[in-house]
This record gives sequence, structure tokens and C-alpha cells, in this order.
Amino acid sequence: MNAFSFIQKLRNKLRITNGTTLILGNKINIVHCTITIKGKNNTLKIGNNTKLRNTNIEIIGNNNTIKIGENSLIGNFCYLSAKEENITLTIGNNTALSRNIKVMTSDGHPIYQNNKRINYAKDITINNNIWIADNVTILKGVEIGSNSVIGINSTVVKNITSGSVAVGNPCTVIKENIRWEY
Ligand SMILES: CC(C)(COP(=O)(O)OP(=O)(O)OC[C@H]1O[C@@H](n2cnc3c(N)ncnc32)[C@H](O)[C@@H]1OP(=O)(O)O)[C@@H](O)C(=O)NCCC(=O)NCCS
Repeated sequence: MNAFSFIQKLRNKLRITNGTTLILGNKINIVHCTITIKGKNNTLKIGNNTKLRNTNIEIIGNNNTIKIGENSLIGNFCYLSAKEENITLTIGNNTALSRNIKVMTSDGHPIYQNNKRINYAKDITINNNIWIADNVTILKGVEIGSNSVIGINSTVVKNITSGSVAVGNPCTVIKENIRWEY
């Protein structure tokens, strides 16, 4: 467990249960974030050179993980959550989430059909070198392939293939074989 530094504790609001696994890389830059981790056996991993600005991270429940890779950027007013049990939210390397992006592995309230739960939490994977434009929401179970771009105001509910531009609600691929630059 690499603890947050004194300066990081001053610059952010951290509420982290004892026993949480923290794996913090070198030169991470975290400012004005609220990080809440409650429950047993949870993990937060942030890779080298990654920046988080004014982001709300919630890991609540047991055996849940949020992993953010190296050289990634999480912009202002983003929300990342891993809740319920055995859930992993992964964000890869060189990936940019711009502003006001919600990545939610669970819906927040259970829904039952014929007394059977129908909306369990599911993992989300946002792979390497992805650009997510402002105001995007990414819901449970989604995987976004590497090198893709998600357009402004989109709601992503199904997997998006690598190397594509995808937009809209629900978000669908509109261009393939693309590349983008930081
Ligand atoms: C993702 C994005 C860059 C794609 O741009 P693009 O490849 O030039 O796309 P185009 O303008 O050619 O649009 C292609 C089609 O998708 C539609 N479209 C584009 N963006 C859309 C969006 N966010 N939601 C819904 N439809 C969209 C267009 O209307 C067009 O439809 P048509 O073919 O029926 O005419 C752009 O949509 C976007 O999100 N820009 C904002 C980036 C941003 O938020 N920057 C903030 C700082 S990081």
C-alpha cells in the first residue's frame, strides 16, 4: 500500500477504509478530488504520470477495483464508481476523459422483474489511447476498444470497437479506421 502523500491529503478529500489496497504510481497529480473507499478488500490503482482534476471516485462494497493506467488524464467534474461486489472499472494508458464524464459500473438502485434482480453491476473497460469528449456517460458492462473517440454528450451502453468514432444516445460507431492525437 503506497499511502497518499501529505500534500495529496491536503489537496483532496480522502475517505478511505483501513485495509484498502492503494497502488499509486510516480508523478501522479491529483487535485481537488473526492475519493471515497468503503468496504473490504477494495483496490485503487493509479499509474505513473496520470492526472486527475476535481474528480469524484467511489469504491463501495467488497472486492471492487478501480485501475487507471499511465499518462492518462481525468478532467474536471468526472465521476468514476465501482460498487456492489467483485467489480472492476479499468481505464487504460494514454486515455483522456475530458469534462463531466460519468463512468458507472452500477445503476445505484436494484431493479427486480418477477422478484428477480435484473440490473447487477458489471465491469467497465476503457482501453488505451481513447479520447472521451465532454458530458459522456458510460454505463455498466461496456468495453471501449483502443484508439477510439467518443463524441460529446454520448451515452455508451454497448461495446465500441477499436479505432472508431462513436456518438449519440445510444452511442454507435459512425467512423472506422481513425486515429486521433493528444
Ligand atoms: C467526436 C467528434 C470529435 C467527431 O467529430 P467528426 O468526426 O468531425 O464528426 P462529424 O462532424 O463528421 O459528424 C458525423 C456525423 O455524426 C453526427 N455527430 C457528430 N457528433 C455527434 C454527437 N456528439 N452526438 C450525436 N451526433 C453527432 C453528425 O451530426 C454527423 O451526422 P450526419 O452524418 O448524419 O451528418 C465530435 O462529435 C465531438 O464530440 N466534438 C466535441 C469534442 C469535445 O468535447 N471537446 C472538448 C475538449 S476535449
